[in-house]
Amino acid sequence: MLAKIEQLLQEVKGLTAQNPEELEALRIKYLSKKGAINALMADFRNVPAEQKKEVGMKLNELKNLAQERIAALKETFENQDNSAAELDLTRTAYPIKLGTRHPLTIVRNEIIDIFGRMGFTIADGPEVEDDWHVFSSMNFPADHPARDMQDTFFIETHPDIILRTHTSSVQSRVMEVSQPPIRVICPGRVYRNEAISYRAHCFFHQVEGLYVDKNVSFTDLKQVLLQFAQEMFGPDTKIRLRPSYFPFTEPSAEMDISCDICGGEGCPFCKYTGWVEILGCGMVDPAVLEANGIDSKVYTGYAFGMGVERITNLKYKVKDLRMFSENDTRFLEEFESAN
Ligand code: DAH
Repeated sequence: MLAKIEQLLQEVKGLTAQNPEELEALRIKYLSKKGAINALMADFRNVPAEQKKEVGMKLNELKNLAQERIAALKETFENQDNSAAELDLTRTAYPIKLGTRHPLTIVRNEIIDIFGRMGFTIADGPEVEDDWHVFSSMNFPADHPARDMQDTFFIETHPDIILRTHTSSVQSRVMEVSQPPIRVICPGRVYRNEAISYRAHCFFHQVEGLYVDKNVSFTDLKQVLLQFAQEMFGPDTKIRLRPSYFPFTEPSAEMDISCDICGGEGCPFCKYTGWVEILGCGMVDPAVLEANGIDSKVYTGYAFGMGVERITNLKYKVKDLRMFSENDTRFLEEFESAN
């Protein structure tokens, strides 16, 4: 009998329960009328008189311990219940913070949308490119100083592989696998080896446009760009084209829009000219068409390229380019309602 009591004592010392149901099962096992301790009590009368004192004390110890242990376990569950009862179940839930679209994404989508409505589809190309698609096929001859217009990141071990400096490389990617009519815009990230400042970064975003078909003229280009400018910056926006130079277009131009801060009157933002530059454009040089497998005697085309950061700066008056890549949520949250 003593051995049995000793065994139960050890068991009771280690009692645990995961939930009130388990605890109740333990109570029944040890403390109920038909439980193990009562069974020992019933046997008590058979214990020889000289052992009664010792066995009786042990038995009481066991009973007390079992009662204490089960009461203690019960208390832990009751405390949990109390803490649940203190919860205010009528309180509204914590709001889940939704992310916001990045301003560059908002503007890029808007550009895609405007040109999409004019029949342009989206084309894509790799950011890690080869010299051919970025330069040679775009009519930059080897060692031509025009290559220095864009400071290029080279891969040390593979001088032919570079990070694309402009999305014009996607023009080549599209033309080499398709024949006119071609009407695409190519949004994407580009890289230049520039010192980072408020007005320059080593990566930024462009949207390239390309239209190649029979009888495509400069007039078509001008009309599409006017339409774009007015949809992007408002119906009163004027455009102006200034002659420029790009290896891949001839003739080439840079396009300005009337300054929407001063309405063309002149202000510090437009440096008192009334105009701000937003993109480069021109008629695709026949040499580019030929290099990419398109017959320049049959087809003509126009192309344009714009910086998404530049357009975003104009639209939202962001003064420092670095804001776009710093992930400062105070800045990003300002665009919460934009899209
Ligand atoms: N690729 C030029 C740049 O990054 C932008 C550009 C100018 C693209 C004229 C064109 C274009 O397609 O016709 O500066």
